[in-house]
Amino acid sequence: MLLTLNSRPGQRVYTERLVHAGSAEYREWVHTKSKLAAAIKNGLKTFPFTEGSTVLYLGSSTGTTPSHISDIVAKGTVYCVEFAERVMREFVRVAEQRKNLVPILADARKPQDYPWIGRVDVVYEDVAQPDQVEIGVRNSERFLREGGYLIIAIKSQSIDVTEEPKKIYKQCEKKLKDAGYAVMETVDLEPYEKAHAMIVAQKS
Ligand SMILES: C[S@@+](CC[C@H](N)C(=O)[O-])C[C@H]1O[C@@H](n2cnc3c(N)ncnc32)[C@H](O)[C@@H]1O
Repeated sequence: MLLTLNSRPGQRVYTERLVHAGSAEYREWVHTKSKLAAAIKNGLKTFPFTEGSTVLYLGSSTGTTPSHISDIVAKGTVYCVEFAERVMREFVRVAEQRKNLVPILADARKPQDYPWIGRVDVVYEDVAQPDQVEIGVRNSERFLREGGYLIIAIKSQSIDVTEEPKKIYKQCEKKLKDAGYAVMETVDLEPYEKAHAMIVAQKS
């Protein structure tokens, strides 16, 4: 079972179980509800989130995965971009409890609308859009430090529903390489997420 140390003991963010060990409380990180957890379950090797990391999270939705990253980067900051007002309202309630989550109501296609965030160590993207690679690169060009990581949850069916997912993943890898990134690994998220893969790239 994957767990993160709960930075808000006694509080759940979704339907995760709370697990106690000594005086510590952990939250179950449910791999069927979080693509990052699914990637870990399927052998993800690169994990650049540390206690002090600054993270730009694109497509934060109601905060399931952001809340676990918030637990991990306990002394860092997670800037969370989401453009759907209804889910953002729910997310704000999570962010009110977790001071290292910073909600940003904006379109991730327009990083010029949130220039104040400054440099980040990781850009994590889960937006399920046809131009998801371009969105990740645009944000990374602006905010990601040299040597930082761009991690994209690729939804192949958002790019081309008729194409074989593995071909789509290769095309995405090529786009990232052409943009000057080193592709570290691609982890297929089946059977937990149909036709999804996590691509990890490093900015040189
Ligand atoms: C698959 S959900 C994200 C789930 C979330 N990452 C998690 O693991 O808890 C995708 C989210 O991306 C948001 N989104 C899609 N396109 C976007 C864009 N251009 N800018 C900001 N948010 C976007 C959607 O509104 C949706 O909430």
